Amino acid sequence: MKPYLSFLILFIGVVGLSFGQTTSDIPEVQALLDKMTLEEKIGQLNLVTPGGGVATGSVVSSNVEAKIKAGEVGGLFGIAGPEKIRQAQDLAINQTRLKIPLIFGSDVIHGYKTTFPIPLGMSASWDMELIKHSAEIAAMESTADGINWNFSPMVDIARDPRWGRIAEGAGEDPFLGSAIAKAMVEGYQGTDLTQPQTMIATVKHFALYGAAESGRDYNTVDMSRIKMFNQYLPPYKAAIDAGAGSVMSSFNDVDGIPASGNKWLLTDLLRDRWNFKGLVVSDYTSVNEMTAHGLGDLQAVSALALNAGLDMDMVGEGFLTTLQQSLEEGKVTEDGITQAARRVLEAKYKLGLFEDPYRYIDNKRPKTDILTQKSRDFARKLAAHSFVLLKNDQQILPLKKSTRIALVGPLANDKNNMLGTWAPTGDPQLSIPVLEGFKNVAPDAEITYAKGANITNDPAFAEKINVFGMRAEIDSRTPEAMIDEAVANAKGADVVVAVIGEATEMTGEAASRTDISIPEPQLKLLQALVDTGKPVAVVLMSGRPLTIEALNAMPVSILQVWHPGIEAGNAVADVVFGDYNPSGKLTASWPRNVGQVPIYYAQKNTGRPAPDEFAKFKSNYLDAPNSPLFAFGYGLSYTTFEYSDLSISKPKIAMGDSVDVSVKVTNTGDYDGEEVVQLYVHDVVRSITPPLRELKGFKKVMLKKGESKTVTITISPENLKFYNSTLDFIAEPGIFEVFMGGNSNVTEKVEFELSK
Ligand code: NOJ
Repeated sequence: MKPYLSFLILFIGVVGLSFGQTTSDIPEVQALLDKMTLEEKIGQLNLVTPGGGVATGSVVSSNVEAKIKAGEVGGLFGIAGPEKIRQAQDLAINQTRLKIPLIFGSDVIHGYKTTFPIPLGMSASWDMELIKHSAEIAAMESTADGINWNFSPMVDIARDPRWGRIAEGAGEDPFLGSAIAKAMVEGYQGTDLTQPQTMIATVKHFALYGAAESGRDYNTVDMSRIKMFNQYLPPYKAAIDAGAGSVMSSFNDVDGIPASGNKWLLTDLLRDRWNFKGLVVSDYTSVNEMTAHGLGDLQAVSALALNAGLDMDMVGEGFLTTLQQSLEEGKVTEDGITQAARRVLEAKYKLGLFEDPYRYIDNKRPKTDILTQKSRDFARKLAAHSFVLLKNDQQILPLKKSTRIALVGPLANDKNNMLGTWAPTGDPQLSIPVLEGFKNVAPDAEITYAKGANITNDPAFAEKINVFGMRAEIDSRTPEAMIDEAVANAKGADVVVAVIGEATEMTGEAASRTDISIPEPQLKLLQALVDTGKPVAVVLMSGRPLTIEALNAMPVSILQVWHPGIEAGNAVADVVFGDYNPSGKLTASWPRNVGQVPIYYAQKNTGRPAPDEFAKFKSNYLDAPNSPLFAFGYGLSYTTFEYSDLSISKPKIAMGDSVDVSVKVTNTGDYDGEEVVQLYVHDVVRSITPPLRELKGFKKVMLKKGESKTVTITISPENLKFYNSTLDFIAEPGIFEVFMGGNSNVTEKVEFELSK
């Protein structure tokens, strides 16, 4: 090659890099870009919500109709239904110069109208097929209602259960979180985004939102790159590798710069290192909020966001109102604006909207595609698979179907709290309360019902969690009168089932708690029930790990059911009466008390590891053990599983080789059941301090009673890699210990050597 030619190529490359790609490889998009005025390009960057849905900030957009007609809107969210969406699309198609279709977004976090368990619950199923299918159904239902862009999956790793939004994600682990992120993206997007049953997935909240300091929502995040790359970033990357079409920037700052204006995050990492080609949308007014963060006025923060690589501005309209001026003042470039517009248009193109802006608008579909019995049956199955049996040493569960049951508790006959947080498209009134589910599944049982206690007796607290309607109603009776009624019912029954826990809005966005225990009136009720001497099974609902040492010390069984979704009552009954044997395993550690948080199983050894008993000058607490009450991966079954014959296919492997680890699992109890077999790896010596174990594989297997199966999991070279101190993703030679069993505390191990 002639030297000047290679210089020219290099020059074009450098220019291309510094300005990003302003031209589109898609001819239809390029043709449009060529015709667009600056104002029209800026209009595409504006994402508005007309209100009427759930606003997650203090403002909603105004004059939406006029703005659409003026070409000042690229997309809408918070509206649904073919009729409304057609009206909006008509405005864009018939009344704007270039007839650019709108894109329609929504938060479809755990099902659309068929609401599935909260994501933290779904993750406890460890079943990627079920999780993927839940996303397929969510996409089918939302697209039937005209929505083609989903603000899900939320893949923020969360190790602090004070944070209310732990409910929306897959828990604490990057490996499991990555598998779930992939399953959800594949479920929403399918294999062809132009199909009318598929929608663009948005991986959020980029990045590190789950590490908000002190578990307080929107709080600052400050984290080393090593921790980021090894523990927090993998699920976002997995979603992007799975083809997620968009990314939402998070509210928090990262290294002192809010994510929405963080060029390192949105360009250097996301686009240059990870090769993401899609659309980046801000969170709700997160561009404007950079002013409160302390980064300048609206014009300054909007320019910062655009220059960082953010394409679409949600609700705040900083782009709409200031970019032109910033361009005139040289604070942004026209190329920067063109590039962002290109990405918005390309997303629309991928959905097939240029070919047919009405592709997702079909008046017939809501009837045939939404809330079908088939989807509800699936929601029931998925919910049952998400439940985690925490304690059953008295073998109170499962119950016989012909027995006298005192069903008690503030959540025992409730519709308002079954769907869980962030289910704005679901209808709580369509959900099945536990009482109804019991009657459906065990029609011969004699069931009495008493509320027994309020979720909380504190009116000020109740008011805060009743923002979206009544979730925690305070009874007009005294607490004593309510307990007396429940106790009287208990005395006349063979067994008590108490359904207690958190109201939905005690979890989720802006619902952080410093005390994550069960509210006192409910614990008092429990104690009174236990004092009757009757067997008590607790069905515990929550959107987060709770601190339940006091409850755990009582002679009760505990079934954790999260907020189970639309089929709540039926699913709870299926498990309580043994039609389905629980198989869920925790995906976030349950601390003994909040003083232990942040808490996670992938702990490092430290230089002074804690012995079994407290010791001075060791890494332990004076007043509690280091271990959680319930570990990651923990969950019981009505049957028992025994593990034996752990073996490894070879003692030594070369770089690039893989190794099989096998274990025999036997169902030694009295019920058929499913078990989640988990594999953890410990890199014994490496250049940065290794966690004592990290999940690197899992398989869910069904075993009939008495049956044995050998489960084999392959450890691939990728599994052994980590980001070292220069952030290279490498595996280092040496000894690896491999643990395989039914939870993260498993002690049986084999080892192999990775040679150079
Ligand atoms: C704020 C939330 O953080 C985000 O998850 C959601 O997608 C937006 N609001 C839009 O509703």
